Amino acid sequence: MKILLVDDEAVSLRLMEKYVTKLGHEPISGVGGREGLRLWQKTHPRIVITDWNMPEVDGLQVCREIRSAAADLYTYILVVSARDSERDLIAGLESGADDYLVKPVSLDELRARLEIGRRIIDLQAELSEKYRLIRDNFFQTIRMFSHLIETVDEDLGGHCRRVGALCAAVARRHPAVRPDQVRIAETAGLLHDIGMVGLPGGILSKKPVAMNTEEKQLYLAHPEQGEIILQEIDMLDDIAGFVRAHHEHFNGRGFPDERAGEEIPLLARIVAGADTYDNLMQRDGVALEDVAEQLAVQRGYQLDPEIVDILFEINDEQIRQEAQKRHVSVKIGDLAEGMVLVKNVRRPNGVLLMPAPLKLDSHKIEKLQKYFRMNAVPDEVFIEKRSSGS
Ligand SMILES: [Fe+2]
Repeated sequence: MKILLVDDEAVSLRLMEKYVTKLGHEPISGVGGREGLRLWQKTHPRIVITDWNMPEVDGLQVCREIRSAAADLYTYILVVSARDSERDLIAGLESGADDYLVKPVSLDELRARLEIGRRIIDLQAELSEKYRLIRDNFFQTIRMFSHLIETVDEDLGGHCRRVGALCAAVARRHPAVRPDQVRIAETAGLLHDIGMVGLPGGILSKKPVAMNTEEKQLYLAHPEQGEIILQEIDMLDDIAGFVRAHHEHFNGRGFPDERAGEEIPLLARIVAGADTYDNLMQRDGVALEDVAEQLAVQRGYQLDPEIVDILFEINDEQIRQEAQKRHVSVKIGDLAEGMVLVKNVRRPNGVLLMPAPLKLDSHKIEKLQKYFRMNAVPDEVFIEKRSSGS
């Protein structure tokens, strides 16, 4: 096991290196607290043995810094000192040390203390793994639950599922969202309209301006209703807050709290962007190619500009993927009459030989085959999938 040793005195450091190696571990030595912390960041050892008395950054500071840093795995810290008063021991433990050794340290004592450290680290790793499994199952259950919404209300369920996926895609690209928050963003998207479950059918497909007074009241209450439902589950407490805020507008003109800008939690702003994107396409029937134009109108007003910019990128990518789905590449030798050319055919130097779109007849196919024999064009051209017969 890698063990980080931190001491400002070379002689003590060498002795500890010798002991640790003798006990079958791999020592990493840091001279002084600052260097020790740098090595901890770099090498992620599971055990740190640090001297207490060091100039500038002392052992207690090392403990505090390690404890305050976010790390996936627990670091077991042993503080070594010539001090052996009860007060010192308490100060060491309060700074985040797990154990305390008084100098001079014997090899046998070190062996016994490291054994304790290893047991704690193993238990902690087991616990983290179990926690990870529970969390995975929990998110899986929520996904399944959101599919259930689809069986009760197809429009609402489909909307929630698409918004969930889009939230995850935006979160993955947003520089301020940590990787472990992507799943939370997805869950917030999956559940954002849970307050709409059970409302009279048809509300979801209407724009708020087209609703009657009663429908509008129900609609305006759905973010709070969603929050109340989700607050029943402790692990969904944060998500309940994002659901409450998913109709807040960046300019402060949304509901229910009229929060503005960064007062609205980031993940709620992401849900708002994904929700709008999906409504534009599915409810309002805006074509994929025209979504960006509609989103641009809301940039900085209803929606966070940074999130709109990310949605632009996603939209571009979706347009490209759609285009690929609609087109296939066909070898020039396999071309048949009736196929529709969808991409211009050019010489390598850019000179246009055949413009698209163009329905191919035998004459044009012959021409393309001639160009190919002259090495003037590549062996493949792009054809409209529907016309290719595949
Ligand atoms: Fe909503």
